[in-house]
Amino acid sequence: MIEDAPDVKVKRKIIFVDDEPNVIQGLRRMLHGMRGEWEMVFAGSGKEALGHLEQEKFDVIISDMRMPGMDGAQLLSEVRERYPNMVRIVLSGQSDEETVIRSIGPTHQYLSKPCDANTIKATVARACSLRDFLRDEKLQHCVASMKSVPSLPSLYVRLLEELRSPSPSIAKVGEVISSDVGMTAKILQLVNSAFFGINRHVSSPTQAVNFLGLETIKALVLSAQAFSQFEKEELPAHLTSNLWNHSVAAGSYAKTITRLEGASGEISDHAFLAGLLHDIGKLVLAVNFRDTYDEVLQLAETERVSLAVAESKLLGVTHAEVGGNLLGLWGLPNAIMEAVTFHHYSDGCPEESFTPLTAVYMANILQHEIEPRGSESEQHIDLDYLDRLGLTSRIDTWRDACRNLVNKGDQ
Ligand SMILES: [Fe+2]
Ligand SMILES: [Fe+2]
Repeated sequence: MIEDAPDVKVKRKIIFVDDEPNVIQGLRRMLHGMRGEWEMVFAGSGKEALGHLEQEKFDVIISDMRMPGMDGAQLLSEVRERYPNMVRIVLSGQSDEETVIRSIGPTHQYLSKPCDANTIKATVARACSLRDFLRDEKLQHCVASMKSVPSLPSLYVRLLEELRSPSPSIAKVGEVISSDVGMTAKILQLVNSAFFGINRHVSSPTQAVNFLGLETIKALVLSAQAFSQFEKEELPAHLTSNLWNHSVAAGSYAKTITRLEGASGEISDHAFLAGLLHDIGKLVLAVNFRDTYDEVLQLAETERVSLAVAESKLLGVTHAEVGGNLLGLWGLPNAIMEAVTFHHYSDGCPEESFTPLTAVYMANILQHEIEPRGSESEQHIDLDYLDRLGLTSRIDTWRDACRNLVNKGDQ
């Protein structure tokens, strides 16, 4: 049979779980044409699915949420524990909010029923290629098993205080979330999911809070699955003292640059969010490889190289790639993922026009230049990249505008 021929590329192994025989039937029929690329197994319950997983290795699990016995949230938590590098997708109809909140930790992406074959195909393909990009299995595990990216404890406490106050304000909650990398990433994962039916572009964490409502945010914070704060010794102090300020500033620099270029509102929003999230990979790596990351920081300092260079040397991957990878796996828009992934090596990006990446690339460099902190070595502007885009002459305008932003903030 052709499927067994040795030169045929390895098929993805996907397990579908749903207690409704009709749904399983429908999926079988709809995905019949995928048999050449996927090996599919269909299970009628969480228990049955776990049985299959014990027997053989799968790449992806796509599960219903509401099922008798073990529900989707429980099943995916179990899968996350036992097989951390599997891609975990929910395919569900209406679910109650409590179940959704419980599932947000272990779920990478949500699809809602009814879902067409192309959407399932595209979601699986994107998630698998992202996971495969990290060739090292340990890295795959660490990114795929992240439930949340830890927040700055002071911001976490401020968020709790605001939510527990007699009349919490959406604006204040949005403001706290916009100051934190981990909370922003998680909230964007949620609003980009099909669960909440928000099929429109979300411009900022505050707007996301507005859509989701304060009750949902409260449930998210209290569930301990979605948001978390890091413990004192968990992250190197050298990293935490600078990262939050740098990220928030990079977000507003990136937004300013897009406005100067007359870019659309969507490009500008994506640039702002990507600027805020661009260094999220540093947190992922530092939390998972605490000791090696100390060495990375040290190497960057003693050899006067950028963190990205030191990370490549010691970990074989950069924080930019890891961060972009996590955000992609969580289903954030491509433009954000691309800007985060390539923010140090703009050359790797195939785009030849002004994109959020251009803004984030420059925002990161200008932020280090205008507000130098710590000893992270300066990165030089890649003039080839900007020449290709015909934007070299704009650098001074961008620099001046960002400098003004800082001066205004100081007043
Ligand atoms: Fe960076
Ligand atoms: Fe940065």
